[in-house]
Amino acid sequence: MTRTRIHNLSMSLDGFATGVGQAPDAPFGHAGHRLHEWMIATRFGAPIVGREGGTAGVDNAFAQQHEPGIGAEIMGAGKFGPPGWQDDADWRGWWGPNPPFHTPTFVLTHRPRSPIEMAGGTTFHFLDASPAEALDVAREAAAGQDVRIGGGPTVARDFIAAGLVDHVHLVQVPIVLGRGVRLWDGLEALEADYDIEAVSTPSGVTHLTFTRS
Ligand SMILES: NC(=O)c1ccc[n+]([C@@H]2O[C@H](COP(=O)([O-])OP(=O)(O)OC[C@H]3O[C@@H](n4cnc5c(N)ncnc54)[C@H](OP(=O)(O)O)[C@@H]3O)[C@@H](O)[C@H]2O)c1
Repeated sequence: MTRTRIHNLSMSLDGFATGVGQAPDAPFGHAGHRLHEWMIATRFGAPIVGREGGTAGVDNAFAQQHEPGIGAEIMGAGKFGPPGWQDDADWRGWWGPNPPFHTPTFVLTHRPRSPIEMAGGTTFHFLDASPAEALDVAREAAAGQDVRIGGGPTVARDFIAAGLVDHVHLVQVPIVLGRGVRLWDGLEALEADYDIEAVSTPSGVTHLTFTRS
C-alpha cells in the first residue's frame, strides 16, 4: 500500500508556514529564508541553494527523508509561484532549470496550463481538481511509490483535513512570524488520528512526526 507523505514542512512558533508579500525574489515573503535555515545548513539542503557541505546530524537525517520512495509530488499554486504567475507564460517555478523534485509534479491551480518538462526528471503538470482526484492522478503517475504533498500550507491543510495524509513531518522553528498562512486552522483534534513524536535538535528546531495510527 503506498502512502501520502509530507516532509520538511517548516513553521514558526505561531504556526505560520509562510509569510506575506511573496514575489519572484521572495518565495516566502517577509519570512525570508528563516523558516528553512535549519535545512539549508544540512548536507541535504545545502545543494538546493547552491552550497557545498552541510551538517550530517539529526536535522540532515530528517531532511533527507524528503526523497526516498517518492514517485510524485502535489503542490499548490502558491508554492509554484508568486501571486499572478498564471499571467506569465514564461514562469517555470522558483527553482531554476533543474528543480529539486525529480518526479512528475502536479500543481493545483484554478488556471491550468500545458505541462512543462524540466531537467532532472521533474515535469510540472497543472491540475484543477479536488484533493482526492489529484491524489488519484498523482498515485497513478507515482507507479507504486509514495506521493508527497509538497505544500504550501493551504494545500497541506486541505489534504490533511480530507484525511488523505498518512505521514506528516513538521519542523517547528523558533521564530515568531506574526503574519502569513497558518497550517493548523480547521484541524482541531488532529492528534486523535496520528501517533506523534517530537525531537528537538541542537540547531534549535523541533521535528514533529504525525504517523497515521
Ligand atoms: N514552510 C514550508 O515548509 C513551505 C513549504 C512549501 C511552500 N511554502 C511556501 O508557502 C507559500 C505557498 O503556500 P499557500 O498556502 O500560500 O499556497 P499553496 O498551498 O501553495 O497554494 C494554494 C493555491 O493553490 C490553488 N489550489 C489549491 N487547491 C486547489 C484545488 N483543489 N484546485 C485548484 N486549485 C487549487 C489555489 O490557487 P489559484 O486559485 O490561484 O489557482 C490556491 O490559492 C509560498 O510562500 C511557499 O514558498 C512553505
